[in-house]
Amino acid sequence: MDWRLKNTSERYGLVAQFLHWSVVVGIMLQYAWAWRIDNTESIRQQFSLVNEHKSIGMTILLLVLLRIGWRAINQTPDHPPGTRLWQANAANFTHALLYFLILLMPLTGWMYSSAAGYGAEFYGLLDIPDFVPTSERLESFMHLAHESMAWAIPIVVLVHVAAALRHHFVLKDDVLKRMLP
Ligand code: HEM
Ligand code: HEM
Repeated sequence: MDWRLKNTSERYGLVAQFLHWSVVVGIMLQYAWAWRIDNTESIRQQFSLVNEHKSIGMTILLLVLLRIGWRAINQTPDHPPGTRLWQANAANFTHALLYFLILLMPLTGWMYSSAAGYGAEFYGLLDIPDFVPTSERLESFMHLAHESMAWAIPIVVLVHVAAALRHHFVLKDDVLKRMLP
């Protein structure tokens, strides 16, 4: 175990690891909830599942914002020795794309709900203010954006996971291990 909180030039610290893996779990829950919403007959249950989806989604937004802030004040580990330029570019590009998607996914959900007039809430504890006006056009645009990104995320994550597994099992370096305690 390595208990360091902050990143070093060789590995991610516990804070970055916690933020990475909690967002992974959160996103998996969101897909599970979306599936449950589609597969329940009961309107009452659908209603509470959608509210839970919004609460989990707003939690993810908070974690992603913390994560971006933490990344800004922390060093990012270097690419492992021997990394080619194209590999470094591919990794940087995929990471940037993932950040873009995990930030916009909750934001489009929030705007979609706000535009529909059924804003976001947080575990029944508080109603989160709408930051866009009620509008049918905006609602359908944000719905389309939310749905399109719901398709894009698994594709980019697949590439990302394939790269992580290739590093671990084929190249046998410590890229996967450095995102684990
Ligand atoms: C990273 C966070 C999120 C992920 C991964 C996610 C994922 C999804 C997925 C996969 C769907 C189903 C799309 C489809 O119709 O095929 C969906 C639907 C939806 N999402 Fe999200 N979502 C997130 C955050 C949010 C947030 C923060 C809100 C609102 C505050 C939200 C509101 C909704 C709504 C209202 C639907 C439509 C549900 C229905 O009636 O079928 N989402 N989301
Ligand atoms: C929803 C799924 C996922 C998302 C959104 C995601 C996102 C990200 C992002 C944005 C980074 C860059 C971190 C930074 O430098 O700030 C990263 C790094 C990393 N992720 Fe993921 N990830 C996901 C799932 C996974 C899974 C399932 C694995 C393992 C199989 C994994 C393994 C890694 C590793 C090893 C790194 C460090 C790469 C390096 O050292 O350059 N990720 N991830």
